[in-house]
Amino acid sequence: MANARVTVHPEARIDRIEPELHGHFSEHLGRCVYDGLWTDDTADEDGFREDVLGLLADLEIPVLRWPGGCFADDYHWEDGVGSREDRPRRRNLFWAQGREDVPEESNAFGTDEFLEFCERVGTEPYLAANVGSGDPQEAADWVEYCNYDGDTELADRRRANGHEEPYGVKYWGLGNENWGCGGQMTPEQYAREYRRFATYVGSMDNLMLDHDLELIACGFENHEWNHRFMEEIGNTNWGVEFPLDHLTLHHYYGRTMSIAEAGEEKYDQFLVEALEMDYHIERIASAINAVATTRDIGVIIDEWGAWHTEAVAENGLEQPGTVIDALSAAAVLDIFNHHSDVMTMSNIAQTVNVLQCLVETDGDEAWARPTYRVFDLYAPHKGNDALTTTVDTPSREVEHGDDDLPFVGASASVAEDGETYVTVTNLDCRDGHTVEVAIEGADAGDADVAAQVLFEGQDPGLEAGASNADEFAADDLGVDVDGDVLTVDLAPSTVAGISVE
Ligand code: AHR
Repeated sequence: MANARVTVHPEARIDRIEPELHGHFSEHLGRCVYDGLWTDDTADEDGFREDVLGLLADLEIPVLRWPGGCFADDYHWEDGVGSREDRPRRRNLFWAQGREDVPEESNAFGTDEFLEFCERVGTEPYLAANVGSGDPQEAADWVEYCNYDGDTELADRRRANGHEEPYGVKYWGLGNENWGCGGQMTPEQYAREYRRFATYVGSMDNLMLDHDLELIACGFENHEWNHRFMEEIGNTNWGVEFPLDHLTLHHYYGRTMSIAEAGEEKYDQFLVEALEMDYHIERIASAINAVATTRDIGVIIDEWGAWHTEAVAENGLEQPGTVIDALSAAAVLDIFNHHSDVMTMSNIAQTVNVLQCLVETDGDEAWARPTYRVFDLYAPHKGNDALTTTVDTPSREVEHGDDDLPFVGASASVAEDGETYVTVTNLDCRDGHTVEVAIEGADAGDADVAAQVLFEGQDPGLEAGASNADEFAADDLGVDVDGDVLTVDLAPSTVAGISVE
């Protein structure tokens, strides 16, 4: 007998699920860029890692944010262009903080390498400009170097560096965590700085006519801060338009949990913490709506994911890639779908080797982590219209805030050709649950129904490595179809994707 019910309401469409909700973030930190995206050992002649490139291309990642993170607000882009032998070596203020063991930044991987990497993967670049220690001219020059097609010194420099055509970079972040590592600013101070930068970077947009830049400000998990930022941003008084297209925040969870020591109780708390993403999206949307509208200014979560006690600066923020983390990613991607009316992008931290990366490398081996499998299973949602989905589920009381852990979660979407896709999670690490999925008004009896499941029979703490990575691939899942009701048995800590054609 089913003990949980998911109801999909095809008549109640939410909005398009922007493919960018499956975006990524790569920082010059630990082994993310050097060893992850770029290496001298297994690389092709340009230094790119073909194995990582291939895994990311297969996943069709829609957007990649770079070069930070905190790194970005101490990064000067001109250090990383031109002949590699002439590029200066630097110590990054944030990730090298007085530690001799952290390698110096060689600047071997710079703007042209990053943008070429994006071209090869087939993904949209998102550059984060330095507001903390940079100036508006430097940021505007970066835009000109990347995007301008005329006959200026900067455009010619790009050509001399081997890129005749402008890159047409669309997404530009102005600052990162400027309440903290990006300059310890008050919200009012950052809003004024943001306006100043946006004036110069934004004017490049007019200059280049056919390049539609989208400018992004970095918010905070403290929502009073976001309200004050928006109030000051809106305080132009003189009817001057300023460009702000997206407001972001960062949400990491699991900071007090050690993967090595965690058990069922910790898993429950961790998942409840991950589900707080829902609250943060609602609150940041409300800060935007107090001054403007989420139609004009979208919500981005441009850093998110699990961050455990294993990930410390000394080891380049590395932690094991496990089933429990992957389960949290599924729950968060469902939340993004529910908020497709306000959300324009998200970027999981970080693509390779760092935090909740999707790909891990060791020497000349590279493999997909369990979180990669979740992104793959959720891929059919990309570009679909999200459908309102309600869930009736048992739950468990958890020692973390006031919220219980709901065992079953879900989201649904419909493609242009009418195919419905439903993802269902069983966040209960102890017991299996039988879930009925009712698609209102549909007669699934005449439809082609197919389902896949991840992590059946695998322990939540199970870690992926080079030798067992294939064991995390999806398996077929049996579905019982009765009219518009589909019934699936979900083993503990599993994720399923069901398509109805
Ligand atoms: O992703 C690691 C760090 O977390 C980023 O550099 C910073 O933006 C955040 O605090």
